[in-house]
Amino acid sequence: MRKTIIAGNWKMNHTGADAKATITGLVSRVPKDVKSEVIIAPVFPYLPMAVELTKGTPIHVAAQNMHWEESGAFTGEVSPAMLVDIGVDHVIIGHSERRTYFNETDETVNKKVKAALAHKLTPIICCGETLEQREQGIMQSWIEGQIEKALAGLTKADMANVVIAYEPIWAIGTGKTASAAQAEEVCSIIRKKVAALYDQATADDTSVLYGGSVKGKNVAELTGSADIDGGLVGGASLKVDDFMAIIDNAIVK
Ligand code: 13P
Repeated sequence: MRKTIIAGNWKMNHTGADAKATITGLVSRVPKDVKSEVIIAPVFPYLPMAVELTKGTPIHVAAQNMHWEESGAFTGEVSPAMLVDIGVDHVIIGHSERRTYFNETDETVNKKVKAALAHKLTPIICCGETLEQREQGIMQSWIEGQIEKALAGLTKADMANVVIAYEPIWAIGTGKTASAAQAEEVCSIIRKKVAALYDQATADDTSVLYGGSVKGKNVAELTGSADIDGGLVGGASLKVDDFMAIIDNAIVK
Protein backbone atom coordinates (compact mmCIF):
# COMPACT_ATOMS: atom_id res chain seq x y z
CA MET A 1 0.00 0.00 0.00
CA ARG A 2 1.30 3.41 -0.90
CA LYS A 3 1.77 6.13 1.68
CA THR A 4 0.43 9.65 1.87
CA ILE A 5 3.44 11.96 2.18
CA ILE A 6 3.67 15.64 3.04
CA ALA A 7 7.20 16.85 2.32
CA GLY A 8 8.49 20.37 2.93
CA ASN A 9 11.23 21.55 0.58
CA TRP A 10 12.72 24.56 2.30
CA LYS A 11 14.90 25.41 -0.72
CA MET A 12 17.59 28.02 0.18
CA ASN A 13 15.68 29.47 3.14
CA HIS A 14 16.04 29.77 6.95
CA THR A 15 19.31 30.36 8.76
CA GLY A 16 20.02 28.48 12.01
CA ALA A 17 17.70 30.19 14.47
CA ASP A 18 14.71 30.15 12.11
CA ALA A 19 15.41 26.56 11.11
CA LYS A 20 15.55 25.54 14.77
CA ALA A 21 12.35 27.39 15.64
CA THR A 22 10.51 25.86 12.70
CA ILE A 23 11.65 22.34 13.50
CA THR A 24 10.89 22.60 17.21
CA GLY A 25 7.49 24.07 16.36
CA LEU A 26 6.71 21.13 14.11
CA VAL A 27 8.02 18.63 16.65
CA SER A 28 5.63 20.01 19.24
CA ARG A 29 2.64 20.03 16.89
CA VAL A 30 2.87 17.05 14.54
CA PRO A 31 0.86 14.34 16.33
CA LYS A 32 2.77 11.17 17.25
CA ASP A 33 0.22 9.10 15.31
CA VAL A 34 0.07 11.42 12.28
CA LYS A 35 -1.41 9.50 9.35
CA SER A 36 0.79 11.02 6.62
CA GLU A 37 4.51 10.58 6.41
CA VAL A 38 5.92 14.03 7.22
CA ILE A 39 9.30 15.02 5.76
CA ILE A 40 11.29 18.25 5.98
CA ALA A 41 14.19 19.17 3.71
CA PRO A 42 16.33 21.97 5.19
CA VAL A 43 19.61 23.13 3.61
CA PHE A 44 22.73 20.99 4.14
CA PRO A 45 24.25 22.87 7.13
CA TYR A 46 21.16 22.28 9.28
CA LEU A 47 20.51 18.64 8.41
CA PRO A 48 22.35 17.30 11.50
CA MET A 49 20.34 19.65 13.71
CA ALA A 50 17.12 18.57 11.98
CA VAL A 51 17.96 14.89 12.49
CA GLU A 52 18.78 15.53 16.16
CA LEU A 53 15.64 17.57 16.90
CA THR A 54 13.30 15.11 15.15
CA LYS A 55 14.69 11.94 16.80
CA GLY A 56 11.85 9.89 18.27
CA THR A 57 9.23 11.91 16.35
CA PRO A 58 7.34 10.94 13.19
CA ILE A 59 9.18 13.64 11.19
CA HIS A 60 11.69 12.46 8.59
CA VAL A 61 14.57 14.51 7.22
CA ALA A 62 15.51 14.84 3.55
CA ALA A 63 18.37 16.49 1.73
CA GLN A 64 17.50 18.67 -1.25
CA ASN A 65 20.21 17.21 -3.49
CA MET A 66 23.35 15.08 -3.46
CA HIS A 67 26.10 13.83 -5.77
CA TRP A 68 26.12 10.24 -6.99
CA GLU A 69 29.79 9.50 -6.27
CA GLU A 70 31.03 8.13 -2.94
CA SER A 71 33.80 10.68 -2.39
CA GLY A 72 36.55 12.44 -4.31
CA ALA A 73 37.43 15.63 -6.14
CA PHE A 74 33.94 17.10 -6.51
CA THR A 75 34.24 20.52 -4.86
CA GLY A 76 31.03 21.69 -3.26
CA GLU A 77 29.24 18.37 -3.46
CA VAL A 78 27.85 16.03 -0.77
CA SER A 79 27.78 12.25 -1.16
CA PRO A 80 25.01 9.76 -0.31
CA ALA A 81 27.24 8.09 2.32
CA MET A 82 27.60 11.45 4.08
CA LEU A 83 23.83 11.92 4.21
CA VAL A 84 23.35 8.42 5.60
CA ASP A 85 26.15 9.04 8.11
CA ILE A 86 24.29 12.01 9.63
CA GLY A 87 20.95 10.17 9.74
CA VAL A 88 19.10 11.59 6.74
CA ASP A 89 16.67 9.09 5.16
CA HIS A 90 15.25 10.83 2.05
CA VAL A 91 16.68 12.96 -0.74
CA ILE A 92 14.96 15.17 -3.31
CA ILE A 93 16.37 14.44 -6.76
CA GLY A 94 15.99 16.43 -9.96
CA HIS A 95 13.96 19.37 -8.69
CA SER A 96 13.18 21.69 -11.62
CA GLU A 97 15.26 24.45 -9.99
CA ARG A 98 18.27 22.12 -10.06
CA ARG A 99 17.56 21.17 -13.66
CA THR A 100 17.12 24.83 -14.70
CA TYR A 101 19.85 26.61 -12.70
CA PHE A 102 22.41 23.83 -12.13
CA ASN A 103 22.26 21.89 -15.37
CA GLU A 104 20.86 18.67 -13.96
CA THR A 105 19.88 16.28 -16.71
CA ASP A 106 17.80 13.13 -16.87
CA GLU A 107 21.10 11.22 -16.92
CA THR A 108 22.44 12.79 -13.70
CA VAL A 109 19.02 12.36 -12.10
CA ASN A 110 19.17 8.65 -12.92
CA LYS A 111 22.69 8.31 -11.48
CA LYS A 112 21.59 10.05 -8.28
CA VAL A 113 18.47 7.90 -7.96
CA LYS A 114 20.58 4.73 -8.26
CA ALA A 115 23.14 6.03 -5.76
CA ALA A 116 20.39 6.97 -3.29
CA LEU A 117 18.85 3.50 -3.50
CA ALA A 118 22.25 1.83 -3.12
CA HIS A 119 22.58 3.70 0.19
CA LYS A 120 19.01 3.02 1.31
CA LEU A 121 18.03 6.66 0.94
CA THR A 122 14.52 7.17 -0.46
CA PRO A 123 14.70 9.39 -3.53
CA ILE A 124 11.85 11.84 -4.15
CA ILE A 125 12.18 12.16 -7.91
CA CYS A 126 10.79 15.36 -9.41
CA CYS A 127 9.34 15.79 -12.86
CA GLY A 128 7.25 18.48 -14.49
CA GLU A 129 6.61 20.44 -17.67
CA THR A 130 6.90 24.11 -18.53
CA LEU A 131 3.87 26.16 -19.51
CA GLU A 132 5.20 26.25 -23.06
CA GLN A 133 5.37 22.44 -23.24
CA ARG A 134 1.84 22.21 -21.86
CA GLU A 135 0.56 24.70 -24.42
CA GLN A 136 2.37 22.86 -27.21
CA GLY A 137 0.51 19.69 -26.22
CA ILE A 138 3.67 17.73 -25.43
CA MET A 139 3.17 17.50 -21.66
CA GLN A 140 2.39 13.78 -21.62
CA SER A 141 5.34 12.65 -23.73
CA TRP A 142 7.65 14.94 -21.77
CA ILE A 143 6.55 13.57 -18.39
CA GLU A 144 6.68 9.97 -19.60
CA GLY A 145 10.17 10.58 -20.95
CA GLN A 146 11.37 12.10 -17.68
CA ILE A 147 9.97 9.16 -15.70
CA GLU A 148 11.42 6.54 -18.03
CA LYS A 149 14.88 8.12 -17.91
CA ALA A 150 14.84 8.72 -14.15
CA LEU A 151 13.90 5.09 -13.49
CA ALA A 152 16.18 3.51 -16.11
CA GLY A 153 17.83 0.38 -14.71
CA LEU A 154 15.74 0.25 -11.53
CA THR A 155 14.22 -3.09 -10.54
CA LYS A 156 10.72 -3.72 -9.27
CA ALA A 157 12.22 -4.16 -5.77
CA ASP A 158 13.93 -0.75 -6.08
CA MET A 159 10.54 0.83 -6.80
CA ALA A 160 9.36 -0.02 -3.28
CA ASN A 161 11.68 2.77 -2.10
CA VAL A 162 10.94 5.39 -4.74
CA VAL A 163 8.68 8.43 -4.42
CA ILE A 164 7.74 10.51 -7.47
CA ALA A 165 6.70 14.16 -7.33
CA TYR A 166 4.91 15.93 -10.17
CA GLU A 167 5.72 19.62 -10.05
CA PRO A 168 4.51 21.63 -13.05
CA ILE A 169 7.13 24.35 -13.43
CA TRP A 170 4.45 26.95 -14.10
CA ALA A 171 2.90 26.30 -10.66
CA ILE A 172 6.07 26.55 -8.54
CA GLY A 173 6.25 29.66 -6.38
CA THR A 174 3.77 31.41 -8.66
CA GLY A 175 0.65 31.06 -6.54
CA LYS A 176 -0.85 29.23 -9.56
CA THR A 177 -1.80 25.78 -8.35
CA ALA A 178 -2.60 23.22 -10.97
CA SER A 179 -6.28 22.44 -10.53
CA ALA A 180 -6.91 19.14 -8.78
CA ALA A 181 -8.10 17.79 -12.16
CA GLN A 182 -4.90 18.92 -13.92
CA ALA A 183 -2.70 17.48 -11.16
CA GLU A 184 -4.68 14.24 -11.10
CA GLU A 185 -4.39 13.87 -14.88
CA VAL A 186 -0.59 14.00 -14.74
CA CYS A 187 -0.20 11.91 -11.57
CA SER A 188 -2.36 9.28 -13.30
CA ILE A 189 -0.13 9.48 -16.41
CA ILE A 190 2.88 8.88 -14.12
CA ARG A 191 1.24 5.88 -12.45
CA LYS A 192 0.30 4.38 -15.81
CA LYS A 193 3.89 4.84 -16.98
CA VAL A 194 5.19 3.03 -13.87
CA ALA A 195 2.67 0.24 -14.58
CA ALA A 196 3.91 0.01 -18.18
CA LEU A 197 7.56 -0.07 -17.06
CA TYR A 198 6.96 -2.57 -14.21
CA ASP A 199 3.45 -3.78 -13.45
CA GLN A 200 0.16 -2.57 -11.99
CA ALA A 201 0.97 -3.73 -8.45
CA THR A 202 4.21 -1.73 -8.47
CA ALA A 203 2.38 1.32 -9.79
CA ASP A 204 -0.34 0.93 -7.16
CA ASP A 205 2.31 0.91 -4.42
CA THR A 206 4.24 3.98 -5.65
CA SER A 207 3.53 7.27 -3.90
CA VAL A 208 3.04 10.08 -6.43
CA LEU A 209 3.02 13.58 -4.94
CA TYR A 210 1.93 16.90 -6.39
CA GLY A 211 3.97 20.07 -5.84
CA GLY A 212 3.33 23.67 -6.84
CA SER A 213 1.67 26.22 -4.55
CA VAL A 214 0.21 23.59 -2.23
CA LYS A 215 -1.52 25.27 0.73
CA GLY A 216 -3.74 24.30 3.64
CA LYS A 217 -6.78 25.36 1.63
CA ASN A 218 -6.13 23.32 -1.53
CA VAL A 219 -4.44 20.21 -0.12
CA ALA A 220 -7.68 18.33 0.62
CA GLU A 221 -8.93 18.62 -2.96
CA LEU A 222 -5.53 17.62 -4.31
CA THR A 223 -4.97 14.66 -1.99
CA GLY A 224 -8.61 13.63 -2.35
CA SER A 225 -7.86 12.80 -6.00
CA ALA A 226 -7.31 9.13 -6.77
CA ASP A 227 -3.69 9.29 -7.92
CA ILE A 228 -2.30 12.11 -5.75
CA ASP A 229 -0.65 10.72 -2.63
CA GLY A 230 0.51 13.92 -0.96
CA GLY A 231 2.38 17.14 -1.55
CA LEU A 232 5.89 18.45 -2.07
CA VAL A 233 5.55 21.87 -0.52
CA GLY A 234 7.83 24.88 -0.97
CA GLY A 235 6.80 28.28 0.42
CA ALA A 236 4.10 26.95 2.74
CA SER A 237 6.55 24.58 4.45
CA LEU A 238 8.58 27.44 5.93
CA LYS A 239 6.06 28.49 8.57
CA VAL A 240 4.85 26.06 11.20
CA ASP A 241 1.21 27.20 10.98
CA ASP A 242 1.12 26.94 7.20
CA PHE A 243 2.77 23.53 7.09
CA MET A 244 0.58 22.22 9.93
CA ALA A 245 -2.53 23.34 8.00
CA ILE A 246 -1.37 21.18 5.10
CA ILE A 247 -0.60 18.19 7.33
CA ASP A 248 -3.95 18.57 9.12
CA ASN A 249 -6.03 18.94 5.95
CA ALA A 250 -4.36 16.30 3.78
CA ILE A 251 -6.62 13.39 2.96
CA VAL A 252 -5.09 10.02 3.75
CA LYS A 253 -6.82 7.48 1.52
P1 13P B 1 5.88 26.22 -3.85
O1 13P B 1 5.04 25.39 -2.91
O2 13P B 1 6.53 27.39 -3.19
O3 13P B 1 5.14 26.56 -5.10
O4 13P B 1 7.12 25.27 -4.30
C1 13P B 1 6.86 24.01 -4.79
C2 13P B 1 8.15 23.29 -4.89
O5 13P B 1 8.96 23.57 -5.76
C3 13P B 1 8.43 22.23 -3.90
O6 13P B 1 9.55 21.48 -4.26
